[in-house]
This record gives sequence, structure tokens and C-alpha cells, in this order.
Amino acid sequence: MSSESSLAAQRLYNDPRVAQAKELLLAAVADHQKELADVREPNPALASDYKVMLDQFSQHRGGSTFFPYLGSGIGNGSYVEIADGSVKLDMITGIGVHGYGHSHPLIVEAGIDAAISDTVMQGNLQQNTNSCDLSKLLVDTACETGAELKHCFLTTSGAMANENSLKMAFQHNHPANRVIAFSHCFAGRTLALAQVTDKAKYRVGLPDTIAVDYIPFFDQNAPQRSTEIAVSHLKYHIDRHPGKHAALWMELIQGEGGYYPGDQKFFEALIEVARENNIAVIADEVQTFCRTTRAYAFQHFGLDKLVDIVTIGKFSQLCATLFTDEYAPKPGLISQTFTGSTGAIFASHAMLKGMIDNGHFGNNGKNMQLHNHFVEGLNRVADKHPGAISGPYGIGGMVALTPFDGSADVATDMVRRLYDHGLMSFMAGGAPSRVRFLMPLGCVTEQDIDAACDIIEAVVVAMA
Ligand SMILES: Cc1ncc(COP(=O)(O)O)c(C=O)c1O
Repeated sequence: MSSESSLAAQRLYNDPRVAQAKELLLAAVADHQKELADVREPNPALASDYKVMLDQFSQHRGGSTFFPYLGSGIGNGSYVEIADGSVKLDMITGIGVHGYGHSHPLIVEAGIDAAISDTVMQGNLQQNTNSCDLSKLLVDTACETGAELKHCFLTTSGAMANENSLKMAFQHNHPANRVIAFSHCFAGRTLALAQVTDKAKYRVGLPDTIAVDYIPFFDQNAPQRSTEIAVSHLKYHIDRHPGKHAALWMELIQGEGGYYPGDQKFFEALIEVARENNIAVIADEVQTFCRTTRAYAFQHFGLDKLVDIVTIGKFSQLCATLFTDEYAPKPGLISQTFTGSTGAIFASHAMLKGMIDNGHFGNNGKNMQLHNHFVEGLNRVADKHPGAISGPYGIGGMVALTPFDGSADVATDMVRRLYDHGLMSFMAGGAPSRVRFLMPLGCVTEQDIDAACDIIEAVVVAMA
């Protein structure tokens, strides 16, 4: 017997009945998802039951959901069926999570593999071989062009990955106890991360935890000047609190802040100062992972040799903190009962591998082609309806527009109207407020993007 088949698990996964069952299940999903190929209105016959269910859910969770959305459990790529009978074109994907859209065969198959695995969850004490496979893929991909991020700690949320990264930076740089972050950054919602996140509203009623000093982000309209200003702010904070900063916290593309990318020279200038002062360089890639020309945005910006700790989330299904030898935590600092569900681990591996194998990365990879197609569509709408929407439109798989005057009310109104017309989006940014799209890069087609632009145009006309 070969070592390949010496384990019962291998024999199970190679069992022809499993292959047959998979085929049947995938065929059933394919048959039923076929009908979900276009936007559809809610079914009036389901309206009253749906409303009861939504009201009950709102009551149970202690507040209503932003959209009246409860998915039925099936979709077709960029399209998803809602339990009110409607079909929506999903260009927000749970804020960047469903990177292969809905009911994609790759994900269904990963789910079947997970379903016949022995446990639902994996954690620090007991992990399966697929946790090793995933960690290896994440680390190998990260180190491909020179980064030293040799380690990867899996976890269940972006906030937890970020929390772990902060702990590593603080422990390594003890007794430094401050963080430097960009204005308008979003880092998550734990007590520590609510302090890093530059939004007072998200801290109402919370005690102060860590001290954070803010520096301005890159301005595309004034690259050199904005770099000089950010560097001088950074030096000012370091001079004011010498030896007190443990980490420079960086979103390389501001996500919640409004979809504004930074720039290689800008980051390099800041990192140079941080390194001179032994400050850990952390890239928060929870929203950017898999959305630029490379799997990691730090690679897109050529910062391979300059990052100490990198966090990922959303698209990656489960989350992770990658770190160099230098920042390895001492025993006891980081541990978790759950590092991820078996389903998320299988899906994460399949999705990242799928993105690599299917040509999504590279300067002219699918991510950038899809971005360019979206931008062309938005430009068409902007040209036909002057003053209705404007850029900049973001980068790669992170697309945003400013509607009309960019007020928060107008952006929220647009997002709600888009939903009613069948297109899912969400807000981002403050001044101006923007409407953002996180398309399902793994499956979205140019036709889907054209359909989204048609809906945007219809809504713009209705709002004018
Ligand atoms: C840049 C960034 N960091 C951290 C988080 C927090 O991730 P999670 O909601 O999974 O805790 C988010 C979520 O939007 C994010 O965009």
C-alpha cells in the first residue's frame, strides 16, 4: 500500500462514492442556480412571511440590518437569491468576503470536502493537515518576491488578526506603548482597535485603551507634498514621544476611509523613518487581500522587504497574521480555541489558488482588467450625466464613486436605491461620502459589470 493511501482519510477522499456524490451535488446546484441569471423583483406571495422573519431577526439581534437582506442559500456567481424571492446583483459580497460570489462550484466543492471532514472547527490544540496546506500557501505567496514573512497565525476575524499583530508589535518593542496610524483608517472594533480606528463615533462610551497618533494619508493630487507632510507629522510624533511608538499601522489602500490608494514612494519614506526608530511596520490587508495586481497589496506597492507584520481577512475566508522571525511572539501571547472552520480553511485554499492559477494577478491580470472595465462603465455614466458621479474610482477590485455632492445622506440614499433596483453596494469614506463596490473577482463577468453600470445609470437618473 502506498503512503498516499495509508490513511483512512485519504481513502475516504479518494473513494469513488465521494466523487460521485460530489458530481451529483454539483449538478443539482448547477440545475437550480441556472434560473438566477438576472435581477428579479421580490415575490409578493412571500412578502408577509419575509417581513415577519426580518422583524424577528432584527429583534433577536437587537437592531435592524442595513439592508432587508436574508439570503435564501443559493446564488449564481454575482447573482444571489434573497428569501423574499428577489435576485440581486451582488457587487459588495458581504463587504469583500464572497470573492467567488454565490454557489460557485469551487466553493461548493470545498464545502463538501469540509462536510465529510471530522470536525466543524479547527483550533490551536487540534488542527488538520489542511491548516498546514493553507499556512504554506499563504506564506509561500507572501514570500514570493522577497518578503521575510515566514510565519502565519490563522484566526477567525480581521479584528482578531489585527489584535494579534498589535500584541506582537507591543511585546517586541516593549515598553513602547503608542501606535502611529493614518487619519481616516479603519482597523476593527475590539477595544484596542476602536482606538486605532479614526472614527470617534465607533468609540462612543468606550474607555481609552492604547494611545494613537495620526498622520495624514497620501494625496493623489499632491504626491510629493503629501509625502513630505506625512513624514513631518511622523517625525513630530516620534520627537514628542521618543521611544514610545511600537507600530506604524498602515492600510495601503484606505478601505472604510473611501478607497484611496497610497503610493510606493510615500510608504517608503514613512517606513524609512519608522525603521530608524525601531517601530514595527504593520500592513492591515484585511480589505485589500487579493484585490490588487498581487495577492498582497504590500507586493503591489513593492514593499516586500519593508513590512514586519501583515494581516489579511475578508476574501481569505479566515484571517491571518503573517510575521517575520523578529516579531515572533513569545509562548503564551497568542492562542485561540478556534483558528477557523474547516469549511473556511478548504475554501480559503481553493480561492487563493484559483486566483493565482486563473491569472488574476499581474499588471494586466484579471483583477486590473475587471477594474478597467468597471471604470469605463462608470466614465460612460459620468459623461452622460454630468455632476452625477465622479472618481477617483479606486484600484483593482476596490471600486468606488462619489455621488453628486458627496454628502453622507446622498451616498446612503444611492446605496438604498441601488439595492431596490437590484444592485448591492455600500458606503465608504466621510468627506466626501462614497459608494463602494467589492465585486466577486473570482467569478464576475464583464456582462455583470455592464449590468451594474446600467443600474447605476438608472438610479442616477432617478436621483437627479
Ligand atoms: C482594513 C480593515 N481592517 C480590519 C477590519 C476588521 O475586520 P473584521 O470585520 O473581520 O473584524 C476591516 C473590516 O472592514 C477592515 O476593512
